[in-house]
Amino acid sequence: MKQKIAPSILSADFARLAAQVAEVEAGGAEYLHIDVMDGHFVPNITIGPLVVAALRPHSQMVFDTHLMIEHPERYVADFAKAGSDLITVHQEACVHLHRTIGQIKDLGVKAGVAINPATPWETLRYVLPMVDLVLVMTVNPGFGGQKFIPTMMSKVEQLATLRHEQGWSYEIQVDGGINRTTAAMAAEAGADVLVAGAAVFGAPSVREEVGILRRCARG
Ligand code: DX5
Ligand code: ZN
Repeated sequence: MKQKIAPSILSADFARLAAQVAEVEAGGAEYLHIDVMDGHFVPNITIGPLVVAALRPHSQMVFDTHLMIEHPERYVADFAKAGSDLITVHQEACVHLHRTIGQIKDLGVKAGVAINPATPWETLRYVLPMVDLVLVMTVNPGFGGQKFIPTMMSKVEQLATLRHEQGWSYEIQVDGGINRTTAAMAAEAGADVLVAGAAVFGAPSVREEVGILRRCARG
């Protein structure tokens, strides 16, 4: 398995954002994870499409935009226009999830769907054939630096088994509390894309930590 690393800019130094993004790119990160929070779906407020657009000319990485917002259908076009390559919405924030995923794909970008720790993966059963990525939250969303919830690994295992049985192609992403130890656990369970905020941007060498996490995941 060739797991990918997705550093989350939530834990970056926002006063040096372009430089920090360049560091993780130099370290070989495949995805740049961009956490968008609205103060409603989650308690915290972060960034919007302006920041995505500002970073876009500075990076070749896949811009992986994680929308932790209510009514994401109102904003997906703005994020696609700003340069997102992949837009992930929460199952819990979408009354018409199937429609919203279709809307993202119609914009010509990849579509992901995320589930909070309390949400069973079975709620995604009828959208799994159409998504490019399933994000299994391994913390309750809202803040960086929280503790990994290991019981989420059974969702990852079941999603990996089902994908194999059905011949589907979504990537499985984990987000929250990923560090050198939990990266190995998540990869073992079947995760393909590992999001890491505090572990990457809090490391002595941001650039080197990307490679260290990847090596921990690939065993
Ligand atoms: C949590 C965010 C995460 C967060 C992860 O609400 O979705 O992407 O940045 O941060 P760490 O890796 O520090 O748990
Ligand atoms: Zn995230």
